[in-house]
Amino acid sequence: MKYSGVIILLILVHSALWAQKTFTVDASKVGSEIQPDMYGVFFEDINFGADGGLYAELIKNRSFEFDQPFVGWTPFGDVKVMDEDPCFDRNPHYVRLNEKGLRRGTGLENVGFTGIGFKQNNTYRFSFYARSLDGAEKKFRIELISDNNTIGKENLLVSGSDWKKYECTVKAGETALKGKIRLVLETAGEVDLDHISMFPTETWKNRENGLRKDLVEALYDLNPGVFRFPGGCIIEGNTLETRYQWKNSVGPVENRPLNENRWNYTFKHRFFPDYYQTYGLGFYEFFLLSDDLGAEPLPVVSCGLACQYESTECVAVGDLQPYIDDAVDLIEFANGPADSKWGKVRAEMGHPEPFHLKYIAIGNEQWGEGYVERLIPFMEAIQKKYPEIKIIGTAGPAPDGENFDYLWPKMKELKVDLVDEHYYRSPEWFLENAERYDSYDRNGPKVFAGEYAAHPRSRDNNVAGAIAEAAFMTGLERNADVVHLATYAPLFAHFDAWQWKPDMIWFDNLNVVRTPNYYVQQMYAQNVGTNVLSITSGGDIISGKDGLYASSCIDANTSEIIVKVVNASAEIQTIDISLRGLKGTIQDNQVLVSCLHSNVPEAVNTLEAPNNIIPTNTFINTNKNNFQLKALGNAFYICKLKIQP
Ligand code: AHR
Repeated sequence: MKYSGVIILLILVHSALWAQKTFTVDASKVGSEIQPDMYGVFFEDINFGADGGLYAELIKNRSFEFDQPFVGWTPFGDVKVMDEDPCFDRNPHYVRLNEKGLRRGTGLENVGFTGIGFKQNNTYRFSFYARSLDGAEKKFRIELISDNNTIGKENLLVSGSDWKKYECTVKAGETALKGKIRLVLETAGEVDLDHISMFPTETWKNRENGLRKDLVEALYDLNPGVFRFPGGCIIEGNTLETRYQWKNSVGPVENRPLNENRWNYTFKHRFFPDYYQTYGLGFYEFFLLSDDLGAEPLPVVSCGLACQYESTECVAVGDLQPYIDDAVDLIEFANGPADSKWGKVRAEMGHPEPFHLKYIAIGNEQWGEGYVERLIPFMEAIQKKYPEIKIIGTAGPAPDGENFDYLWPKMKELKVDLVDEHYYRSPEWFLENAERYDSYDRNGPKVFAGEYAAHPRSRDNNVAGAIAEAAFMTGLERNADVVHLATYAPLFAHFDAWQWKPDMIWFDNLNVVRTPNYYVQQMYAQNVGTNVLSITSGGDIISGKDGLYASSCIDANTSEIIVKVVNASAEIQTIDISLRGLKGTIQDNQVLVSCLHSNVPEAVNTLEAPNNIIPTNTFINTNKNNFQLKALGNAFYICKLKIQP
């Protein structure tokens, strides 16, 4: 009896210690500056993120340039692929329809990217380039189809034997998730067609050649500080010929030459032979989007090495000049005056003002001496012409190991401005590595965590992964003097056409699902602060003891103190948070607390329940300069309070 009483007492003492913690924020010393663009996004055309995703074009293979020219299309009647006397020299294929006046008709259907999404009462801008071979007027019927029913219809009249653009607007009478479009030549005779295109009229900012509004809204709501594009592995190419060449992605969309998308065959178990890059979403659109989002553009260019996972192909160092020119010309495209060679291209596309590019990354996940010796001439050329541009080198594909250990000292020697680190690791790794940057050299290049994501065993975007990322990110914030930029990866995935997961934002043809990982990024990006504040428990940084993690910062512009707390354990923990050295009082004696939490670590957001896991807001009262947070298990908190002088 006596013995069991002692045990109960010990248990009570233990649980009291476990349950009650004190964190102290020192507001008397304003610490390192936090980069305003610290948290951002990384866009790559993977998982049908561009064509079939962010890029709002609804027609697949609109220019008949896929290796199999009818992919995406079902021709009926007499339809042939041609390339003589084409409309567009860099996309020379087109179709010739020969309607003989028989009852079956001549035309084509297109199924879009996993079907075409139509919304009831929304309108769609349809267009094609056409010529009537004998010049006489020919009538086309354009139909929106759902389940073999016509849900929208318009006519287009084509006349004249020269290539011309024809357009009409079609209204959808019903909603369809996986519709298709049908074009029927109704008049007997021959007509050539090319670049058959259809966009929702309502795109982001209602631009023609626009982006999907709901997907850009999801990006906008994140408040990203930086926007890395266009990849990833796709900038390298599996062969040098198929690398991303930005110059092919600007100018009139109709004449941007098609490229393969390496993610069509990278994973044999996720094989998408119909995955190509039209470059309709090209570098001009990327810069414009960065501008719209208020994010710093951060382009990545090939360094003359094809993807080292897939190939040993490389350009000899002495032959790199065209690649170096591409990098230098890109800076001119972004920032040069409207009368410079590449600034003029930008101006002609509609943006005479510069895009104020500050960063350029040379190479993606490269490794070995071959990378270092190629990076040097790029750096020399860029620094000579644009000394103000920050150059980003890479630490290879992994956050540790031989390549990493070789590259970091080399990057220091070369004095790159930032080093791009990538880590796709388990949630446990993220939890165990929150102190990763506490011991980094303060005098070397800065860190750009350019691709990272917690990969649970299920590879789902679940709460456990999101909470582990939030915990790890307290270490990014605490070390903001070393870590200057961080972008989760990948960004987008189509539910019916993904190759890689987890991903930050999922979508189908009509709907968007923001993941718990999205909300973690959003909570950080909306609460960046301007300077780090010290937060400790018993004099130590808070980075994993009892599953707790914390960081703190001040926003000198708004006089707000922001405390980020992660409880990665399953238990509720009561934390007394004490603010020392405050110069002023806490407005309304209140703290705004945002919380992302679930009792179920495996919980996810789905198409059926997109708001299953979302942040919630409450206020808690302060007592003098203290407040108490009852931190639920598997939870990420942002506590924000305003200081009045
Ligand atoms: O984000 C997906 C891929 O992961 C990127 O293309 C590449 O850089 C990394 O290996």
